[in-house]
Amino acid sequence: MTRVIEVDPINPNPNQMLEAAQVIRASGLVAFPTETVYGLGANGLDAVAVKKIFAAKQRPSSDPLILHLEDVSQFSSIAVLDGLEPLLSKLSSLMPGALTLVLPKKDIVPLGVTAGGKSVAARVPSHPVAHALIAASGVPIAAPSANLFSRPSPTNAAMVLEDLSGRIDLLLDAGDSSIGLESTVLSLLGAPTLLRPGGVPLENLEALIGEVLLPNEAILEPDQAQPAPGMLIKHYSPKAKLLLLESEAHLLEVAREFAAFNLGLLLPTTSLEMLPQIRAIRFDLGSDFSSIAARLFAGMRFLDRAGCTHILAHQFSSFGLGRALNDRLFRAAEGQVIR
Ligand code: TXA
Ligand code: MG
Repeated sequence: MTRVIEVDPINPNPNQMLEAAQVIRASGLVAFPTETVYGLGANGLDAVAVKKIFAAKQRPSSDPLILHLEDVSQFSSIAVLDGLEPLLSKLSSLMPGALTLVLPKKDIVPLGVTAGGKSVAARVPSHPVAHALIAASGVPIAAPSANLFSRPSPTNAAMVLEDLSGRIDLLLDAGDSSIGLESTVLSLLGAPTLLRPGGVPLENLEALIGEVLLPNEAILEPDQAQPAPGMLIKHYSPKAKLLLLESEAHLLEVAREFAAFNLGLLLPTTSLEMLPQIRAIRFDLGSDFSSIAARLFAGMRFLDRAGCTHILAHQFSSFGLGRALNDRLFRAAEGQVIR
């Protein structure tokens, strides 16, 4: 049975947080809101609890987890920071926030969290409920996104229940996640390298620390070995086939071609306006990148529930949040782009 508690997103009730913290301390699973997406949390220092995360999500144990910390000063309790302090202090204006750092791990972190590896990923969420839960628990909270493996990440409590009802002890419902895309993952193991574009744009990182390397494009080839664990090409997928166009250019043409199917349109307002005659189920993503980001995963799930067999979407220019939007769409389309 999964209990659901409604929580005030800005001023969470301390008694509710204590109750949730007790579940964490008793090695249970608590789904909780963050500013990016909902997380599926367990005591990050408890190997038994961490194992339950993988079972609940049906996630392969080769895919490491992010530790969620109360504040920036806690990085030093789970990671070896020798020589990294100047970089961390340059990045401090982005934390708390949607930035995950990959650092050399300390022994205290169970290997179940890091998938057996010597590095650990950690971030300080800015969501008041996430912060209060970590503080009340008194331990780092290991949490992947609170979805079944390879499903779109949940940005509200209903999406968590759709995948995990009955598989977790408690769900803290605090409404919608404001960003709607997962955190940016930045490796500081060598030269700073972007492992996953996310809620903090690459440009914001580079403004603070200079050049950030991009992972080898080879990771996008389905049959290549994975350079970053968990960066599988098939990820964030709706059940329907995602038809991903490189741009708006051939939108009408392709929409006509697929109109005989149960077609879903996952598009920004201006693109929908280009298709007034097309018979399809429409999901309006809004017009600016932040609204598109906040609605993308909800849109994939909505069109799935509506019974679409095909979903038409297009890529965006890749500045700001556009880079992360394109990444999620590209993975949902299993790496196929229609040009
Ligand atoms: O916004 C987020 O990051 C959300 C919320 C809940 O915090 N969490 C999230 O977790 O998206 P998950 O497990 O769905 O994605 C974690 C990503 C994966 O791509 C994983 O491979 C990467 O972080 N990661 C974790 N530990 C790593 C490590 N030691 N080295 C490299 N990548 C790592
Ligand atoms: Mg995930």
